[in-house]
Amino acid sequence: MNVHNFNISYQTYEHINELSVEDKLLCIRAEEALKTSYSPYSKFKVGTAIQLADGEIVLGSNQENVAYPSGLCAERVALFAIGSSKPNAVIKTMAITAFTENFEIKNPVTSCGACLQVMAEFEQKQKSPISVIFYCLNGQIMKVEGIRSLLPFVFVEDRLAGIT
Ligand code: THU
Repeated sequence: MNVHNFNISYQTYEHINELSVEDKLLCIRAEEALKTSYSPYSKFKVGTAIQLADGEIVLGSNQENVAYPSGLCAERVALFAIGSSKPNAVIKTMAITAFTENFEIKNPVTSCGACLQVMAEFEQKQKSPISVIFYCLNGQIMKVEGIRSLLPFVFVEDRLAGIT
């Protein structure tokens, strides 16, 4: 038997003011995106703001449906909007935040596995890492450079070709 370990690195911040001006603005835009969340079933709003290499910022929010699996997470709403409207866009940074009236969210809310898999595909396609900022409205922030740190065993294209 062999035991393997991953060394995953991420940054944490206690306050949004510790971020660069660009990242701070992105977090504020993610907060703005919460306003368009359609989440009558979970009452859990998620907002994202995605910074493209050309400077454009694309917003997205979770969109639920009475047939629950038909809904979609904020991250994929925004990512697929980019994929379908600007297929050659390069994503630099994503900021993600969440809000619910039901309780206080005390820690940054990290993305679900399906959203991480989609982020990984964008990374693979554009051949450059995406920075992801998870912004808790109380000020706590977690930042990761590259999706591999969040999803080390990501399913990649090579698997379909039998390369890895
Ligand atoms: N949700 C997101 O928008 N992003 C995630 O990464 C995880 C969960 C949404 C889906 C659903 O509308 C609500 O949060 C509760 O799961």
